[in-house]
Amino acid sequence: MKIALITGITGQDGSYLAELLLSKRYVVHGLIRRSSTFNTSRIDHLSKDPYGSSGKLILHYGDMTDGSRLESLISEIAPDEIYNLAAQSHVRVSFDEPVFTGDVTGLGTTKILEAIRRAKKNVKFYQASSSEMFGDATAPQSLDTPFSPRSPYAAAKLYSHWVTKNYREAYDMFAVSGVLFNHESPRRGETFLTRKVSRAVARISAGLENELFLGNLEAKRDWGYAPDYVVSMWRMLQQDRPVDHVIGTGESSSVSGFVETCFSHAGLNHLDYVKFDPRYLRPTEVANLQANNEESAWILEMNDLVRVGLLSQIMVEEDIKKLHDPNHVDKPVGNLWQEETE
Ligand code: NAP
Ligand code: GDD
Repeated sequence: MKIALITGITGQDGSYLAELLLSKRYVVHGLIRRSSTFNTSRIDHLSKDPYGSSGKLILHYGDMTDGSRLESLISEIAPDEIYNLAAQSHVRVSFDEPVFTGDVTGLGTTKILEAIRRAKKNVKFYQASSSEMFGDATAPQSLDTPFSPRSPYAAAKLYSHWVTKNYREAYDMFAVSGVLFNHESPRRGETFLTRKVSRAVARISAGLENELFLGNLEAKRDWGYAPDYVVSMWRMLQQDRPVDHVIGTGESSSVSGFVETCFSHAGLNHLDYVKFDPRYLRPTEVANLQANNEESAWILEMNDLVRVGLLSQIMVEEDIKKLHDPNHVDKPVGNLWQEETE
């Protein structure tokens, strides 16, 4: 049985990745933060053992700012694979908390890499890099595109990206980065654009709300489906050689287009509900992210990806279900997920 450690296991991607690895009979260890309220809602269903893997999910308290804890955990668990998904991942919030974001999203990565180096074990390491690192570089972006981060979050991710490459080259470690374009799901945090919209559409159609306040509607993003992207994380660590990849669908859509489509799934006209609120603008915005994934396409099998139209439909439908049953948990769909979990 392989052993994996996932940082950020309570997040959107962490929960799907844990689910994927459990289906593959891994022993999955997850790092969680101590919180005064419950913060495991995305992974609680996994303790009920949906894949019959008999309780191989083990959680440990820890924090990305606490290097000594990370070091002792890694030496104790002796994982075969580490997936570093923990981050202060909200771009807008990173302007309010730039130092904290640098500490967690940037330096936290070095703390893990140092722990692996000192443990002198053969561990494969995955870093969740971000398309935000490209900033306003002309779309479509690939690994040949120069990076030019436009937020404290993007700068911290770029630091982590480079330090991962440096440890690979300096210490011959299997350490890779997936440069992930935006990916969404019914488990997406409620303050990110797509989930904020799908949740509002569900609530408006149920008569619980009648307005949705948003910021910049002009930006474009390459929106994919989170379960597909965690498949790419696992596949990258199964390769013989450590190689970075850009992970995206290759198509970008505007925020306004996404909003309009979500409202139309509920038979509503977005113009009747969407209002502007300058609080949701960023000091510096990224205009257009779109993956040039020619070199990485084989990792994801492009024809099998869940694309933005279906993604928005799934998100609205699942938010409507959640209104009726707050404990409802979505089941991942799509060919890639089926292929890897059967
Ligand atoms: P997410 O839902 O925001 O999850 C972030 C995770 O990090 C949560 O489990 C969170 O714990 C944990 N975390 C935050 N600060 C921590 C700390 N100080 N110590 C320990 N854990 C901490 O993010 P996601 O969407 O799943 O994304 C996963 C990773 O991919 C992140 O690194 C993100 O930056 C990166 N990424 C995401 C996208 C995307 O579109 N989703 C695109 C590119 C890159 P709590 O639950 O306790 O808050
Ligand atoms: N969150 C949010 N809230 N975004 C809004 C709003 C709003 O009310 N109104 C407009 N937007 C715009 C943002 O300005 C941005 O252009 C776009 O919607 C998407 O915003 P987010 O969903 O917050 O995502 P992001 O693109 O900034 O960052 C996400 O993707 C990155 C990869 O490109 C995050 O998941 C990052 O962690 C990730 O690295």
